[in-house]
Amino acid sequence: MTLQEEILRRRTFAIVSHPDAGKTTLTEKLLLYGGAIHVAGAVKSNKIKKTATSDWMEIEKQRGISVATSVMGFDYAYSPAREQVSASGNTLQQAATLSPTDTVQPGTPKTYHINILDTPGHQDFAEDTFRTLTAVDSVIIVIDSAKGVETQTRRLMEVCRMRKTPVMVFMNKMDREGKDPFDLMDDVEQELGIHVTPMTWARGQGLKFESVFFINNRPADLTEKEQADMELIDGVYPAFDRERYLAGDLAPVFYGSAYKTVGVEELLQFFVENAPSPRPIEAMERKVDPMEPALTGFCFKIHANMDPNHRSCIAFFKICSGRFERNTYYQHVREDRQMRFSSPTCFMAQKKETVDEAFAGDIVGLPDTGNFKIGDTLTSGETLHFKGLPSFSPEMFKYIENADPMKQKQLDKGVRQLMDEGVAQLFVSQLNGRKIIGTVGQLQFEVIQYRLEHEYNALCRWESLQMYKACWIESDDAAELEMFKKRKTQYMAFDKEGRDVFMADSAYVLQMAQNDYKHIRFHFTSEF
Ligand code: G4P
Repeated sequence: MTLQEEILRRRTFAIVSHPDAGKTTLTEKLLLYGGAIHVAGAVKSNKIKKTATSDWMEIEKQRGISVATSVMGFDYAYSPAREQVSASGNTLQQAATLSPTDTVQPGTPKTYHINILDTPGHQDFAEDTFRTLTAVDSVIIVIDSAKGVETQTRRLMEVCRMRKTPVMVFMNKMDREGKDPFDLMDDVEQELGIHVTPMTWARGQGLKFESVFFINNRPADLTEKEQADMELIDGVYPAFDRERYLAGDLAPVFYGSAYKTVGVEELLQFFVENAPSPRPIEAMERKVDPMEPALTGFCFKIHANMDPNHRSCIAFFKICSGRFERNTYYQHVREDRQMRFSSPTCFMAQKKETVDEAFAGDIVGLPDTGNFKIGDTLTSGETLHFKGLPSFSPEMFKYIENADPMKQKQLDKGVRQLMDEGVAQLFVSQLNGRKIIGTVGQLQFEVIQYRLEHEYNALCRWESLQMYKACWIESDDAAELEMFKKRKTQYMAFDKEGRDVFMADSAYVLQMAQNDYKHIRFHFTSEF
């Protein structure tokens, strides 16, 4: 296969949802279709659930939430039959014109390479999810049809909108009594602020739910109610328009039940045909096209101790262009040096495999001993920096203290590695050198404490700290900046990179500072 063919057959996406909407269940069903796992029947028993393929960490098993973002790659062979109506409901001829660069030849099986990036569902890990969204080309939003759109999903959608990420919606749990399908679409339109159009429709709901059909390929035996539904749909919703979908303006909607494996294959088929292959990515210097033969990629996640038996980190790189090869020298841009990798891995949930090559769109894991930070770029030689991996000002702050004087070294190492992973943010007070951890939620503190204990054999204690916001500051007026730092020493801290951060303990203090120092700019994300 040529480089171009390899890249065109790739589909890299994230499944995002509110916790419990069914993300894990859907992911498993997609893996089943790809032949990547072989668990027959619905994922029902707690036993299976506890070892759910996308859950990595002990703490997830304990709490039943996904803390870590995991990556799963698999091949999916889709073979449209000649003259058959394709998944999108268009004839294959039309389907071909819909995706000119990615033609499905009638009767020819086409093997897509799918990379699913699972995201932590819990809101305390929102930042982790935001970063994951920088590594995907599209998103599937899962909604619990009994509950409708929930706050957290709305927030994730903000990020998709900012990045113009194409979005598909899966209305899950149609086997439960829930909201009316039309109301659900209204809900998405209003709450998520995106136009919608249904692609499939559910036959029945709740106990009567049995199957779905493509709206463009309606069964002959429509009931009166279904007939009326179709008329309403034809009158109200726009036809699917791939350009609008790719621009992030129109979301195709699918109904189904991940649990009962209904509506999932329809989603998958439509997805591989219509979701984008790797898209161009903006670097600070220029736009990078995935088809460029030279390798470029950035690190969006670092995961320490994936395997407790081997105390190593894995840096997750999204390949933005070209081909990545094992044992080939690449430029580590920040450190301005050449590195090569003898055991790059790709992921199949808990399994990792060494790979010889990977292509734009893929995620490779590089075993790391502290060389990488989130946002680092690897290239074939060019100096490039990818945008869009900011740190947000945390919402909660606590002092972290050592609770076991014999284990100071372990604690320091643990804190350093967890911060490099992006689990939370570390600030060091410029006044007294005390370490402050900033998070977006209480659960993160618990995870840090647990992981320090179980992975680093270190004990920590938290001391509360009244803090409103951390602001990264800069000014063209160096004298004023120095003056500010001197006057506000007790509020000043360094972030992980040694940059100056103003830690305002109340909205009032921040407002006064902004009023008094007109030339200083206060930023709420680290990237400005
Ligand atoms: P999440 O990753 O988004 O947090 O959700 P997850 O897949 O873990 O699903 C949350 C719960 O919803 C699970 O039930 C799961 O079985 C159930 N579920 C998922 N999809 C459907 C569906 O289409 N229909 C119905 N009726 N239920 C669905 P649980 O009670 O937490 O676990 P379990 O006892 O079923 O394993």
